[in-house]
Amino acid sequence: MEVTLAKKRKTKIGFIGGGGISRHHMKYLAEMDDVELVGVADVSEDALGLCSEQFGFSNCFTDYKDLLKIKDLQAVTVGTPNGMHHQPTLDALNAGKDVLVEKPMAMSPAEATEMVKAARKKKRLLVIGFQHRFSAAAQMLKRSIDDDQFGNVMYARCLALRRRGIPNWGVFGRKDLQGGGALIDIGVHMIEAAHYLMGSPQPVSAFGSSYTYIGDKPSDTVSSWPNWDYKSYNVEDLAVGMVRFDNGATLSVEASFAAHIGKDEWTFTLMGDKGGGQFNPPMIFKDESDTMVNLSPEFLPNTDEFRHKLRHFVDCVQTGNPSDAPGEHGLLVQQILNGIYESADTGHEVKIKKLV
Ligand SMILES: NC(=O)c1ccc[n+]([C@@H]2O[C@H](COP(=O)([O-])OP(=O)(O)OC[C@H]3O[C@@H](n4cnc5c(N)ncnc54)[C@H](O)[C@@H]3O)[C@@H](O)[C@H]2O)c1
Repeated sequence: MEVTLAKKRKTKIGFIGGGGISRHHMKYLAEMDDVELVGVADVSEDALGLCSEQFGFSNCFTDYKDLLKIKDLQAVTVGTPNGMHHQPTLDALNAGKDVLVEKPMAMSPAEATEMVKAARKKKRLLVIGFQHRFSAAAQMLKRSIDDDQFGNVMYARCLALRRRGIPNWGVFGRKDLQGGGALIDIGVHMIEAAHYLMGSPQPVSAFGSSYTYIGDKPSDTVSSWPNWDYKSYNVEDLAVGMVRFDNGATLSVEASFAAHIGKDEWTFTLMGDKGGGQFNPPMIFKDESDTMVNLSPEFLPNTDEFRHKLRHFVDCVQTGNPSDAPGEHGLLVQQILNGIYESADTGHEVKIKKLV
């Protein structure tokens, strides 16, 4: 009897996509004793085989619509390539499931808007797989902002720069399936966290440029991740952009899979009129007793932000509480990404309108 009750209380989760990130979701969720992994869908039999081997799935499908038919399935995570986030998310929401969809939530603000509207209409959770906002460093900065240590945060400078790290798996070099390269794939991580800490303002205009110069050529011996598929590579190696928000604040980003720089950069800096802070390494900059001081935390908890994002999703499914990484935030981030891409394509600044 007790076992049956315990089993009943488990949150039943399925997976659309069984690739690298979905297996990461599975790993963390499998460790939670109030979660049951009920099934997985992937167009690749190989991916399904790996998932079954690792997690013992008995429900494996090549069409995600069959997964959505499982009785009592409450929620899904969507870990397909970016171009396959929108439709499965809509179908899952319309089938009454809560959804965690990986970053970036979609290929365009139009897709993202439809997803947000579907979640609202069906009164289901739409959570975006942003994890950096949950990190100990971001939470440290959040506490300083909430305590008004930074004053008005006017500017965020985001850097996601690899000296040479062009993805050599999946379809990360294909614009039709991913929507872009370094900006949408890795720039998005620093943008989501910085934008969240700025209070998630509405972007109103964007300016940017993008460049392809290494990924579309055969990999060389200096590459740490060699043998990417250069023949189908048509995304940017480097994107730079600047976005203005409706509250007057500005965000800039530099994102690259292959930048000729001294060392990789994975950080953002927030500049307020009273103080500032940095993500990596975590630091706070302020004036104290007529002295400029740089503060480094003596201790930060060893938070696993990826685990936190999945635990947070399960908690939201179980309680119905709103998420700290909702679809609405995903849409604003999508507008930042696509605004920069549109500016890069057209060669001029683009205006961005509020969509929901
Ligand atoms: N949050 C993070 O830190 C993080 C890290 C890596 C990747 N991601 C995101 O996760 C997503 C997937 O990345 P990945 O590295 O796992 O890629 P991957 O190539 O390893 O996995 C994608 C899987 O989706 C499957 N797939 C493709 N079309 C499908 C469909 N129609 N139905 C079902 N399955 C389908 C593929 O067969 C593949 O197994 C991307 O959106 C990426 O941006 C997020």
